Amino acid sequence: MSSAPRPVVLSGIQPSGRLTLGNYLGAIKNWVPLSATHDCHYMLVDLHAITVRQDPAVLRDRCLEFISLYIACGLDPSRNVLFVQSHVAAHARLSWILNCYTQMGELGRMTQFKDKSSKHVDNINAGLFDYPVLMAADILLYNATGVPVGDDQKQHLELTRDIAIRFNRAHGTPEHPVFTVPEPMIPPVGARIMGLQEPTAKMSKSGGAETDALYLLDPPDTITRKIKRAVTDPGNEVRFDVLEKPGVSNLMAILSATTGESFDRIVERFDGQGYGKLKGAVAEAVVECLRPVQARYAELRADEDGLMRVLREGAQRASRVADTTLMRVHQALGFIPE
Ligand code: TYM
Repeated sequence: MSSAPRPVVLSGIQPSGRLTLGNYLGAIKNWVPLSATHDCHYMLVDLHAITVRQDPAVLRDRCLEFISLYIACGLDPSRNVLFVQSHVAAHARLSWILNCYTQMGELGRMTQFKDKSSKHVDNINAGLFDYPVLMAADILLYNATGVPVGDDQKQHLELTRDIAIRFNRAHGTPEHPVFTVPEPMIPPVGARIMGLQEPTAKMSKSGGAETDALYLLDPPDTITRKIKRAVTDPGNEVRFDVLEKPGVSNLMAILSATTGESFDRIVERFDGQGYGKLKGAVAEAVVECLRPVQARYAELRADEDGLMRVLREGAQRASRVADTTLMRVHQALGFIPE
């Protein structure tokens, strides 16, 4: 007897800088347990990364670093489809089709586009503008019901849903929609980790000051030093208030997301103790959280043949699903079958 199909999730990260604690707490950490209940697809989105200029040698190296870190964080390749976006041709092909179902005005409203185009004024390329359409193709190709991401991707997910619904109205029926309309899966804590030096802006893998972000491969003493030097707020009261106390609230979010401790419990524990004690506890929690990841990383990264095998197999498994969806879309559009 065949078992019922499992719900599908898909997510990805751009290899546009070193992986941060924000990427871990907002995304990867939440991907790991899903393989018990879902069919999981996790990508390195290299096509997305080139919307900003990348050094080819660095990009190649970073992709291998990322895949090693995915596995080191607990994504077992036998239970998760791990692959590189550019290895599955259907992503670029569906993206073209979805371009024809997306309005310029919708793309112009995307905050990530506004933000990136202000940071890269000399290279506001069409790919940067079109970025969310490729992301919609990524998701819709796998019939994903859920997309585990951090808070900053919510707007892109809403656009993906709008595109899917629009395409279904034009080419599907309520009983037989062409695309599955996905839902974002955003964690209650850790969905928006802020910079340590600039706690009003998101911790980012590209662009910020070295001391603003915690990287997954930062040695323990670097992590401790960065956290001890994190910007805090006037006063010495530990309480969660993003507007009045962005620095302290961010440290509380990191502590809560790494240990599972509630905000109430954190407030109680650090009552009258000041920021120094809180920083010490956060540093210890982050070091402990990353210790097993860092311990596994070096061995995984050293086995390039093994990593390439994982990626080849991942691309084959991903292509089977993605090509089936693409052919369904071609058929819905009236393209002559291949
Ligand atoms: P990217 O590469 O910017 O980020 C990868 C994931 O990490 C989350 N994230 C954070 N979460 C909490 N705090 C932070 N400071 C933080 N910074 C990043 C992001 O929300 C994301 O989940 N467009 C996507 C990549 C992508 C994708 C997809 C995602 C391409 N195709 C399909 C899901 C499905 C991006 O740029 O993520």
